[in-house]
Amino acid sequence: MPNPLEKKHIVLGVTGSIACYKSVDLASKLTQNGALVDVLMTPGAVKFVSPLTFSSITHRPVIADIFSPESELGINHVAVAERASVVIVAPATANTIAKLAHGLADDPITTTILATQAPVIVAPAMDAHMYENAATQENVAALQSRGYVFVGPATGRLASGLIGLGRMLETPDLLGCIKMVLSRGGDLSGRKIVVSAGGTQEPIDPVRVLTNHSTGKMGYAVAEAARDRGAEVSLVTTPTALEDPFGVNVINVRTALEMRSVLLHQCSGADALIMAAAVADWRPAKAADHKLKKGEAETWSIELVKNPDILSEIVGEGLVKVGFAAESEDLLANARAKLLSKGLHLIAANDITAPDSGFGTDTNRVTLLDREGRATELPLLTKYEVGHEILDRVAKVLA
Ligand code: CTP
Repeated sequence: MPNPLEKKHIVLGVTGSIACYKSVDLASKLTQNGALVDVLMTPGAVKFVSPLTFSSITHRPVIADIFSPESELGINHVAVAERASVVIVAPATANTIAKLAHGLADDPITTTILATQAPVIVAPAMDAHMYENAATQENVAALQSRGYVFVGPATGRLASGLIGLGRMLETPDLLGCIKMVLSRGGDLSGRKIVVSAGGTQEPIDPVRVLTNHSTGKMGYAVAEAARDRGAEVSLVTTPTALEDPFGVNVINVRTALEMRSVLLHQCSGADALIMAAAVADWRPAKAADHKLKKGEAETWSIELVKNPDILSEIVGEGLVKVGFAAESEDLLANARAKLLSKGLHLIAANDITAPDSGFGTDTNRVTLLDREGRATELPLLTKYEVGHEILDRVAKVLA
């Protein structure tokens, strides 16, 4: 299941808002990910973006007119509705939301949605006052109570030039939402998975920290993979340059001690802990309150005290524990020793000296070692695919 969008029929409804230009990017990313994208447009949307723009990207006909005898909707007005895995209306204007709430069917999008059994996602885009208007809010609430998934809007600069609530979300969040909706009923549905990511930062003084090269990419990829299998995911992370994955409960920490206390809390009642964070083994005995001055001395020593081993400390009934062993020598022997000493079900051993598997890359080459003594050497995979390999095994243990 490495690609939840592969061969999925996604209906993208585009309505008349300037945010239409962002839907072109969404259609492109969906298509690049192997989805079959049927774009439906209202007459208003066609005024902003040409149907040719979308059909050039999706390589499929765009339906902009319900009465056109050439269009699929004209021939069989429920065909598109029936094959949809998910429908997303992005951007959704106040007008289309109102029509959906009242069951109208006078354009390709409202007609198809009325006829579909697929889940419907709505990504509003409008002026802040239109969104906050009681009529719109009542329509949104009515649709939510019928199971429609609303994603956004965000606060930001609007077409009017004002800052307010009404901006359509960006492509990564819309893609994340589509994947999350498609994951309903996945093999980790009903499971709570806790993931840690990033390198801890241990303060020396208000401007300096002890840290490491971890970028958080591996942990974020595991969190997204778990979300895409239906799990409820908590991601406990140190500051990274990465965007929060949509639909994941992200909790920010800095130090090993903070990470430990948040993880202890998150793991109570969880099904699995996947510890991808690079936790500092040592921290300065005392963080200075003021910036330390360099003075005249030629050397500087910092006294360090040992941090707790978080993975060893956390034990929960039925909690599946997965660790990572980043090693530069004696890879498998060191990883196996950690698997046993930390009471893990699985450990992913990776050689950080390999150019395609180190810090900051999008790929990783790991060997998975389990309690039963098996060692599975995986080929070079994306970190997201490695996440799924790990979760395949977690799901088996949980089952
Ligand atoms: N880990 C942890 N708490 C620590 C150190 C590590 O929970 N204080 C976790 C890491 O998140 C990882 C696993 O333990 O999943 C192995 O981490 P690693 O740094 O490879 O090993 P260490 O236990 O630190 O051992 P060493 O430094 O001797 O290699």
